[in-house]
Amino acid sequence: MNVPFVDLQAQYRSIKAEVDAAVARVLESASFILGREVEAFEAAFAEYVGARFCVGVSNGTAAIQLALMACGVGAGDEVIVPANTFFASAEAVSTANAAPVFVDADPVSSNLDVSKIEAAITERTRAILPVHLYGQAADLDPVFEIAGRRNLIVIEDAAQAHGARYKGRRVGALARAGCFSFYPGKNLGAYGEGGAVVTDDPEVARRLRLLRDHGSERKYRHEIIGYNFRLEGIQGAVLGVKLRRLDEWNALRRAAAARYGELLGGGRLVLPRELPYAEHVYHLYVVQTAERDALQKRLGEAGVQTGIHYPVPIHLQPAYASLGHGPGDFPEAERQAARVLSLPMFPELTEKQIMHVAETIREFTG
Ligand SMILES: Cc1ncc(COP(=O)(O)O)c(C=O)c1O
Repeated sequence: MNVPFVDLQAQYRSIKAEVDAAVARVLESASFILGREVEAFEAAFAEYVGARFCVGVSNGTAAIQLALMACGVGAGDEVIVPANTFFASAEAVSTANAAPVFVDADPVSSNLDVSKIEAAITERTRAILPVHLYGQAADLDPVFEIAGRRNLIVIEDAAQAHGARYKGRRVGALARAGCFSFYPGKNLGAYGEGGAVVTDDPEVARRLRLLRDHGSERKYRHEIIGYNFRLEGIQGAVLGVKLRRLDEWNALRRAAAARYGELLGGGRLVLPRELPYAEHVYHLYVVQTAERDALQKRLGEAGVQTGIHYPVPIHLQPAYASLGHGPGDFPEAERQAARVLSLPMFPELTEKQIMHVAETIREFTG
C-alpha cells in the first residue's frame, strides 16, 4: 500500500468541475494578472480571516517581504524570527534589507519560545515575526505584551496556518499584518505560486498594493520603486473555489490528526500537542523520536512518504554563516531538527491509509 505525503490529485478530482469553470472564466476574460478573480478572492479571504484588507501577491515569501516594507521595516532594523521555521521567514527579512535575529523554539509547541524574546531585543529591533508553525498558532498574547512595551511591530507568518485560531480568532488578522503562502501543498493552495497579506490598516494596504505592482496604482504613474509581485488571475480563481472548502478540509485534517493520536498515543513517539489557546489546522502532523532516520526509512519501505520540517535550523544554514552562529546556539531548535518527522497529512487521507501508517510505526517502535 502506498500512502503519499499529500495527494493533490485526489483533491483536484473532488473539485474539478468548479475549478475548470473558474479557470475557463479567466481564459475567456484574458484577465491573467490581478483582475476580477483576484479581487473577488481578496475580498473573500479578508472576510474569512476577519481583516479589513487582503492584498494578493506572487508567493508567501514576497508577502512577508512586502508586509515588512509596508510597515516601514528596512535597512538598519532587526527583526526577531524563530530559528525553527522554513528558511523563507528569515530570507524575507533579509530581502526587506533588515537583519533577522533568531530566537529558540519552544519544546512543547515548536513555535517561538516567547520567554526568550526579551533577551534578543536590542536598540535596533523593529519587529517580531511569530510563525504559526505546522498549522498551530504561536502564543501571541505574550508577543503583543512585549511588543507594546518595547514599541515593536508584530507581523504574523501564517503561511502554514490558513484558518487556524488563536483564542477563538483566526490567525493572520491579529497583528499589524499577516502573511500567507498559497504554495500548492498548503491548507489553502493555488495551482502555482501565490500569497497574500492581510491587514486592518488602510495605509499598510495601500503601500502593499503599490509595492506589489511597480509602485503604481494608476497605469504608468509610479509613486515609489516597487516590485513585480502580483497574484495571477488563474490563481485567484482557483483560490476562490478552494476557500469555500477550507473549513471542511481543515476539519478533515483535524479528524485525521485525532485518529493518529488514538492509534499512536501511549507509544514511544512524541505526538503533536494542541495547546489550550489554539485550534490547530495540521498543515503538518509532526512527531518526534530519537530514531527518526531509521523510522523514516522503515516507513519508506512500507510505501509511506514522510517529510522533515526542517532538517537544519536557519541559524546553521550556510546562507546565514555571516551571522557567526554555531551548533549549540539554539539548542531546542537543533534538538527538534534531529528528531522531527512529518507523517502523511491531507484532508483526503483514508482510514486504511492512517491504519497502515500507524501499524508500520507500531511494529517499528515495538
Ligand atoms: C512558514 C513559512 N513561511 C514562508 C513561506 C514561504 O512561502 P512561499 O513558498 O509561498 O514563498 C512558507 C512556505 O513555503 C512557510 O512554510
